[in-house]
Amino acid sequence: MFQLEPGSIDGAAMRMLVAARRSSNEHRDRSGVWRFRELLPALDPERIVTLRENDVPLYTARGGAAYAGLAGAAYLHLGMNPTGSFKDAGMTVALTRAAQTGARIAVCASTGNTAASMAAYAARAGLPAVVLVPSTGISESKVAQTLDYGATVLGVDGDFDAALATVRELDPHRVAIVNSVNPYRIEGQKTTAFVLLEQRGWRVPDWCVLPGGNLGNTSAFGKGFREALALGLIDRLPRIAVVQAAGAAPFARLFAQGGDMIPVKAQTTATAIKIGAPASWRKALREVRAVNGTVIAVTDEAIADARAVIGRDGIGCEPASAASLAGAKALVADGTIAPDADVVLVLTGHVLKDPTYAAAYHAGGERFANAIVHTRDRAELHARIETLATARAGA
Ligand code: F0G
Repeated sequence: MFQLEPGSIDGAAMRMLVAARRSSNEHRDRSGVWRFRELLPALDPERIVTLRENDVPLYTARGGAAYAGLAGAAYLHLGMNPTGSFKDAGMTVALTRAAQTGARIAVCASTGNTAASMAAYAARAGLPAVVLVPSTGISESKVAQTLDYGATVLGVDGDFDAALATVRELDPHRVAIVNSVNPYRIEGQKTTAFVLLEQRGWRVPDWCVLPGGNLGNTSAFGKGFREALALGLIDRLPRIAVVQAAGAAPFARLFAQGGDMIPVKAQTTATAIKIGAPASWRKALREVRAVNGTVIAVTDEAIADARAVIGRDGIGCEPASAASLAGAKALVADGTIAPDADVVLVLTGHVLKDPTYAAAYHAGGERFANAIVHTRDRAELHARIETLATARAGA
């Protein structure tokens, strides 16, 4: 239903069209989702619910590349979206669709980011929104953000998987379910692959590394790359590496051992990806296999250290996002990714999404931590600044 008619637009025409739109002042042209609207489901272009999402930067990853053992790498920072996560790319399409079809209410289960994103777009669409979140073990900041946008938050006595199972029992004809089981979410999120390629002048990276939880994003990236190839926007497919947290890695196990998805009781401090029964595993598996990709798991400690390294590049991200760098490091170490490969690390959420985690890391004296010095002594403060400046001058 969402495919372009063959021959209706070609890659060269699409490249010119989106280049022109990037210098337009219209919101839907500057949105990194809607400037690709010819490649999206047919919706009334005059009634789009947009916050100018997905116009996200690609940054060089100097420290991150060195840390992973790579000659070079880049961060695609999806945390630089209006609500601070990659969810906005899908939510703009899902809520546009919900509003245009007269939905009464938008509902989702979430580890926090989907909740905040849905709440914002539902507010823009004038729709009431209800989120089901695990009552413990998610970032308070995400819950506060969701409440700020006016949504009703229902705390579920259980984990994300229980919350999603509850939502999936609802009648989709009565409520708009905007988890990534909603195909309009995936249609929006696939444009992130286009935005990545667009910023590289349509040069295809060797690897695209991203965190995996419920696996909607993996299936969206795979679809985006495939459609870009089919249109002639690119001439080959990048390989995809999905990285899970070791305590929430049913997809990594399945990829290594085959068979069906065996759900696990998820446990990880990267709470955004604390998911034991990923809904989109079948689609994600097809996409990873189609590009000769891979799936691995990394420890919470590796995620914590990688997150700190990303911070020191002047970038920062939330814990789950840093699975990308931790995973790239592991894949370089085991020879899967060549040290001179052209690698894009996808960062899915903003550094301020989980400040409690960051504060605990720095208080805990971990490897890359900064400590706060508390003193009221002005002479000492001056002396400390002078010491740092002197060290810098001598460096
Ligand atoms: N990174 C972040 C920051 C996330 O919030 C999520 C998922 C993922 C990665 C994993 O993406 O599920 O498409 O494989 N967060 C969902 C939520 C579950 O409710 O916010 P995925």
